[in-house]
Amino acid sequence: MRKKLIAGNWKMNLDFNEAMTLIAELCEAVDGNLDQKDVLIFPPALYTRHAHEFLRNASSGIQLGVQDVAATTDGAFTGEVSASMAKVAGADYALVGHSERRSYFHEDGAVLLEKTKRSLEHGLNVVFCCGEVLEDRKSGQHFDVVERQLHEVLSGLNNSEWDQITIAYEPVWAIGTGETATPEQAQEMHAFIRNWVKEQQGDARAAVVRILYGGSMKPDNAAALLQQPDVDGGLIGGASLKADQFTAIISA
Ligand code: 13P
Repeated sequence: MRKKLIAGNWKMNLDFNEAMTLIAELCEAVDGNLDQKDVLIFPPALYTRHAHEFLRNASSGIQLGVQDVAATTDGAFTGEVSASMAKVAGADYALVGHSERRSYFHEDGAVLLEKTKRSLEHGLNVVFCCGEVLEDRKSGQHFDVVERQLHEVLSGLNNSEWDQITIAYEPVWAIGTGETATPEQAQEMHAFIRNWVKEQQGDARAAVVRILYGGSMKPDNAAALLQQPDVDGGLIGGASLKADQFTAIISA
């Protein structure tokens, strides 16, 4: 039985005080009660150390991640933050392959593979994002696109590396648009992804790997999505910035 994971991707939002207030509100709302679902937040990277200390002191059980890591280990890469730096600052997870990184920062499969490897090497779990744009769906190519994205990055991983992998399906047309995949559309793609994992890594891995849905998940549509058999949680953007909304999704 896969425990559901509710993850909040804050993107480049909230000043430091707002961020710490939101973390405090989440700790109070969750209150160490994570029997039903795991909870994970991805604040801006500069807040990682403070967020980690706050979450630890509150014994919240809420896990912490960074939204990006460098593809390289260290060296002359001005502005970059390495996986080992993120780990030491208190991150447990890294997001890799988010559609905003793919489109605005031109990150392709080769770069995302390196980011995944650096994360795994330094003990970070990876939430690997995939998803098609609207034209792909309209032209019926969404399965091919997602399969290619999975293949580019995950096909070479060994069994123990798979222990650190979570997959997030985020159809790009549903991100920040208010338009959500229907529960049936989400289930269909999640089942396809799980079957791909099964072909690559076998039944046992396919049975345990968590596949999250992301794209305008809100309190009013979360339950229907999370009830789908292959939807193991959510990766939430806008609604993760408000404690009441995020908490409502955790409870859905
Ligand atoms: P929204 O929930 O705002 O659509 O964002 C989803 C997302 O991109 C999470 O990574």
